[in-house]
Amino acid sequence: MAFKIGLLGYGTVGTGTAEIILDPEGRNSLLQEIEIAKVGVRSLDQPRSPQLSTEVLTTDLEAIVNDPEIEIVVELLGGLEPARSLILQAIAKGKHIVTANKAVIARHGEEIFTAANQAEVYVLFEAAVGGGIPVIKPLKQSLGVNRIETVIGIINGTTNYILTQMTEEGADFEEVLAEAQQLGYAEADPTADVDGYDAADKIAILAAIAFNGRIKREDISCEGIRQINATDISYADDLGFVIKLLAIAKRGRSPIAKANADNDSLQVRVHPTLVSKDHPLANVNGVYNAILVEGDPLGQVMLFGPGAGKGATASAVVSDIVNIIGFLQTSNTTRKLDPMLKCPHDHFKQLTPIAEINTRFYARFLCQDVPGVIGHLGTSFGNHDVSLESVVQIGFRNNLAEIVVVTHNVQEGNFRKALEEIKSLASIDSIPSILRVL
Ligand code: HSE
Repeated sequence: MAFKIGLLGYGTVGTGTAEIILDPEGRNSLLQEIEIAKVGVRSLDQPRSPQLSTEVLTTDLEAIVNDPEIEIVVELLGGLEPARSLILQAIAKGKHIVTANKAVIARHGEEIFTAANQAEVYVLFEAAVGGGIPVIKPLKQSLGVNRIETVIGIINGTTNYILTQMTEEGADFEEVLAEAQQLGYAEADPTADVDGYDAADKIAILAAIAFNGRIKREDISCEGIRQINATDISYADDLGFVIKLLAIAKRGRSPIAKANADNDSLQVRVHPTLVSKDHPLANVNGVYNAILVEGDPLGQVMLFGPGAGKGATASAVVSDIVNIIGFLQTSNTTRKLDPMLKCPHDHFKQLTPIAEINTRFYARFLCQDVPGVIGHLGTSFGNHDVSLESVVQIGFRNNLAEIVVVTHNVQEGNFRKALEEIKSLASIDSIPSILRVL
């Protein structure tokens, strides 16, 4: 007997999903058990491939989530609504969910997983992070016995493509963004990607699984790449770094928080970062994604691959469908969920405020070329406990000396206080760039 699924959406990922299911030869044998019973689309007039029979296509999305014969609803609409409401309705009707929707999972995970656990249905979302890269299931299962210390990802292909092109062409952000939009690599409205929101949704999801607790999406500190320019990419290169948009989740608290914070806190942040050229993430270029996981006792594992695209994302969607079918075939009537696949936690993790995290910084200063200016910088940093790794006078720009500083690991709050003091120095003209260093 076939398992009936309903697809909400038949765009790029939806058609990719149908292509895999309708061509099972040489793939997992459970694909042959899937019947695409209904597909919800916006309009019936548009030609589609693979073509589906007219009885399968419908514009009535609610009919899919209410159809008693459909066991798995595959949400591929994207965006928050109506995706969220349809997922909740489908759960209420006892249907399992597969979704590629990182925004809904990151922002509405609490109500979705609470409802799913009560209804004893799965909500699987492998495609929501890293496209075709298996990362959700590996974190839940294969890596789950490790105490995870860090998850660091390049998990937005658009920004990785833009930064790679800027590095290779020596071009500035706006120029490369326009080129990426023409080539279809960047959306007409690039905000979610270039301002880091897409990566923040994804690291919220990864951190929740890796550190076993819910993450408040709004608590994630998030900076995008609009301010990155060819000058800093070139100076970073001279210093042995490349600039990448990293999403970072890291166990542990700041020394400030230690006295009274719960011992469960985490730092979760997204920002452009100088990455040493010999770091494994430094060579992840173009639209590719990678996620570096570090745990005890395993050490480091890096998952690398295509972070978006029709076939890659559909591969993750269909593997989730097959996982649920495997469960449905073997489960007894009590339908108790497999603890390795369900959402196992219901509490929120405490996130360390950005001012309390420890990190290294790169800062570029434009200064009067007068005796003692480097000393002034050093004194102000020293006043606030900021230890410097290097101070380099790179050259001149508009008759001003250009000085680049790289710090040791310092507390962000102290670094910001030092910058305030430095801004008030007569010899300092401006601070055009401040970036973090991995
Ligand atoms: N917009 C995303 C990216 C792909 O650029 O990586 C979908 O998650």
